[in-house]
Amino acid sequence: MQEESTPPSASRRGFMQAALATLGAAQLPAAPAAAAGPDAPAAPAQPVRLMVNGKAYTLSLEPRVTLLDALREVASLPGTKKGCDRGQCGACTVLVDGRRINACLTLAVMQEGASITTIEGIGSAEQLAPIQLAFIEHDAFQCGYCTPGQICSAIGALSEMRAGMPSAVTAPGKAIVVSDEEIRERMSGNICRCGAYPNIVAAVRSVA
Ligand code: FES
Ligand code: FES
Repeated sequence: MQEESTPPSASRRGFMQAALATLGAAQLPAAPAAAAGPDAPAAPAQPVRLMVNGKAYTLSLEPRVTLLDALREVASLPGTKKGCDRGQCGACTVLVDGRRINACLTLAVMQEGASITTIEGIGSAEQLAPIQLAFIEHDAFQCGYCTPGQICSAIGALSEMRAGMPSAVTAPGKAIVVSDEEIRERMSGNICRCGAYPNIVAAVRSVA
């Protein structure tokens, strides 16, 4: 089928003319009198109620505080790690209502009423969870900095597979096969600078 086409320059010119005409006709919104910036005064702290690892916390937090900072700096739960602080490494992965999220990308106030699980709430020193035992058995860490996030992410990934949620590599309309490819794809948001990936995949597969 042949598509109708307009010369690129004419098309671009037409678009710019239309856009400028629209801008001229429209009333642009006035900039806020005091735009929020680095010098803007912080909003006052307020009580924020969080349920973490089955325990209720009431923390005094400014609304801008991320869940990651609230956990580490205020709730004294430093097991959740800060890597990039911008959603790129997965070190801060926690479970919220059973689903994995990056704690650096959500505000603590947004998680009031949710059930949050951090690495401190998974297993115990006396009784490790199966995925923790699998990480040890398969030598799935070196420095260990990414490990809390990897373990939370693995729990989330396994429950997604159990629930039949497809990933980008799941064959359309087919049952999920817990393959290395499937695990790699689902764990791809968790970076390991030590490169323990083959062992991480083996550990996850062993409990799948
Ligand atoms: Fe949150 Fe890197 S610290 S994704
Ligand atoms: Fe070192 Fe993963 S074990 S970053």
